[in-house]
Amino acid sequence: MNSDVSIAGDPLDLLHLLPPVPRHPVTVAEFAGLARAIAADRARWAPLVRYDAATRWYARLQTGPGYEVWLLSWLPGQTSGLHDHGRSSGVLTVLDGTLHERALTARGETRRALSPGRQRAFGPGYVHEVANESLEGAVSLHVYFPGLTEMTPYDRSACTPGALAGQESGARSHAQA
Ligand SMILES: [Fe+2]
Repeated sequence: MNSDVSIAGDPLDLLHLLPPVPRHPVTVAEFAGLARAIAADRARWAPLVRYDAATRWYARLQTGPGYEVWLLSWLPGQTSGLHDHGRSSGVLTVLDGTLHERALTARGETRRALSPGRQRAFGPGYVHEVANESLEGAVSLHVYFPGLTEMTPYDRSACTPGALAGQESGARSHAQA
């Protein structure tokens, strides 16, 4: 008497014929690698980009178990404002144009220009502001893990590194609640 196994053979002998099992990133390096792979696939993201003079434009490009990928556009002068990302970690990758990041920690303030291909990885509690200070549009890719469910805005004028130390701890305890 035949069975499916006897007709088709032992499935365990055919693994090399099966399509690869989709693998999702789980480490920061792998999330950064995912962002670089998407960045290199310009035909995938460039046709989707829109610019909105009223607000930053964004679209969810991809989701996976425990993460999501967002595509954002920035017209000159558009800014995120100072914010954190709740309990999410993230990888920011510039795809087009130049963005400027101002990051605040209890130890001080850091400013940096981010050109295409530059990446910033951050953990929960990271506070920054991203802005397009150039005269041309910019596009960025943002991977969040877990997916972004809360962003705490900070008052830019009142936000000094010293004051931030207290705000950061507050944000963390809120995220853990
Ligand atoms: Fe951010």
